[in-house]
Amino acid sequence: MKRLSILLLLLSSALWLTAAPRYNIVPTPKTLVPAEGQFVLGPKTALEVEDAAFSEIAEDFRTRIRLSTGYSLSGNGEKIVLRRVSGLGKEAYRMDVAPDRVLIEASEVNGAFYGLQTLLQLLPEKVYSSVRVKGVKWAAPACRIEDEPAFWYRGLLFDSGRFFFDKEEIKKFIDVMATYKQNMFHWHLTEDQGWRIQIDKYPRLTEVGAWRKETAWHSGIGNGIPHGGYYTKDDIREVVEYARKRCVTVIPEVEIPGHSTAAIAAYPELSCFPERKYEVETRWGIWKNLYAPTATTFRFLEDVFTELFELFPSPYYHIGGDEAPKDVYKESQYCQDLMTVLGIESEEELQTFFVKRMGDFLRKHGKTVIGWDEILDGGALEDPIAMSYRGHAPAAKGIKRGIRVILTPNRWCYLDNQQEDQPDSVAQEIFMPLKKVYNYYPSVDSLATLSKEYIVGYETCLWTEYIWDNDKAESQAFPRNVAAAEVGWTARSNKDWESFRKRMPKVFGTLDQKKVNYSKAYYNVIFDYDRNLPFPKPMNLELDYPYGEIRYTLDGSIPTGKSPVYDGKPFQVDKGTVIKARGFEKGKPVGRVVTKSF
Ligand code: ACM
Repeated sequence: MKRLSILLLLLSSALWLTAAPRYNIVPTPKTLVPAEGQFVLGPKTALEVEDAAFSEIAEDFRTRIRLSTGYSLSGNGEKIVLRRVSGLGKEAYRMDVAPDRVLIEASEVNGAFYGLQTLLQLLPEKVYSSVRVKGVKWAAPACRIEDEPAFWYRGLLFDSGRFFFDKEEIKKFIDVMATYKQNMFHWHLTEDQGWRIQIDKYPRLTEVGAWRKETAWHSGIGNGIPHGGYYTKDDIREVVEYARKRCVTVIPEVEIPGHSTAAIAAYPELSCFPERKYEVETRWGIWKNLYAPTATTFRFLEDVFTELFELFPSPYYHIGGDEAPKDVYKESQYCQDLMTVLGIESEEELQTFFVKRMGDFLRKHGKTVIGWDEILDGGALEDPIAMSYRGHAPAAKGIKRGIRVILTPNRWCYLDNQQEDQPDSVAQEIFMPLKKVYNYYPSVDSLATLSKEYIVGYETCLWTEYIWDNDKAESQAFPRNVAAAEVGWTARSNKDWESFRKRMPKVFGTLDQKKVNYSKAYYNVIFDYDRNLPFPKPMNLELDYPYGEIRYTLDGSIPTGKSPVYDGKPFQVDKGTVIKARGFEKGKPVGRVVTKSF
């Protein structure tokens, strides 16, 4: 008997070492107190909604549960109770999971919605299945949770300008965002390479501006394949409504005064040189076409925004403002004369005048203006929010002036960056693996106290210069955007990479149910080294998957279960070194063989 219990103890501790965490919630809640037992959802489970304000999200939850489990949540047994209480923040919720009852308390719909997302995450991931699943025990481990986000702005930028994605793909992204409690879908809708919104008053925007004759990928050589598309007003209404039901705000971005070639190709009179010929751009980069600061342009933009107000109820509107070289403003006699009349000395100030003019219009219509960090240069906008994308210096500048900022520094936030240093990872050169995304925290360290007040959030950006279809978009975005969701929600003191990497298998299970084509880099060895150091230089090997070991070779042979195990210490690599590495778990390969040749 004694020997048996020792054996059991040994067995259970061995299991404990390799077992998945009992609570797999992403993002990590503010507090979670584990408890004994579990709530098992079944044919007798009832959903009780005590306040009509929560009816809509409750019905959507019921639909989700019915789809995968077949249960209608109208039994007379154990209960899921949604209770409205006073005193919690807009996105906060409390939750008590016990064997006979799940109680979710919130003051507002957003908090209650997040409580339901947490409950879904406590259940087996097949709860996200789109077809009925049999033979699963729908158990949620008991616990008490109190939760609220660290930041109210938790965004994802989606660039439909450079590459057109249909509305179903957009909705798929919004659905995953909501699962992980992100709440701002920043929709980049106008670019040099395409205008993507139907505007009734200006039909050429989509007849002409939504189409390019080809795409010149990074070689600069066109592929001869026309590309384009746009969202009709009904498409946009559908997406905005889909997002609303998931507590996601859709923020439209209309770029001014640069990144505007597609609009100018449709209506050359919006440019400084209307007699010139313009085409929707086929190549990436920063282009010199700018909207002219004329009455014609202002009327055009006001008309465009007026049509957008009916489509996007968001209190936030993004007006771009980045990457607008002023060559045409210098060249244009009209612009130079206007500068004289306005008494301004630089073309930068002319952009400030332009942006202020549109910013005032948006404010008059109750909108808060968001812009890229260039909007800080002029400083004329009233109470804007700046997106600091060129590192943290713009954020510091804004904070010191009392301006709210969203952090989106490209080295940590741009999802077109590489996640695996491999020859087939077609992406920006900046190396941004999952762990780097996870370990970021939106703060300006030198302004820690002020950061708490003025940094309202954090956003990842899915730019699409390196993306040519839905699968590629999904593999660039996921799972890194799930790490980003935790960055935006979870307080710094609660973040823990070791915990996060163990929660990933459940995330992958969820993404599988949602049919998301996520990157498998998590299962591959990652080469972590400083690209700027001279040879010989130190190399670290990393494996995000926590249950494996790394084996590698330096003689060009394929690593096997008998190759040397990486001991976790950096080793020197020199020119000519070829490393081949792979993860192994109990002798069996994990992920693929990766090679790095110097
Ligand atoms: C940007 O990356 N130009 C916002």
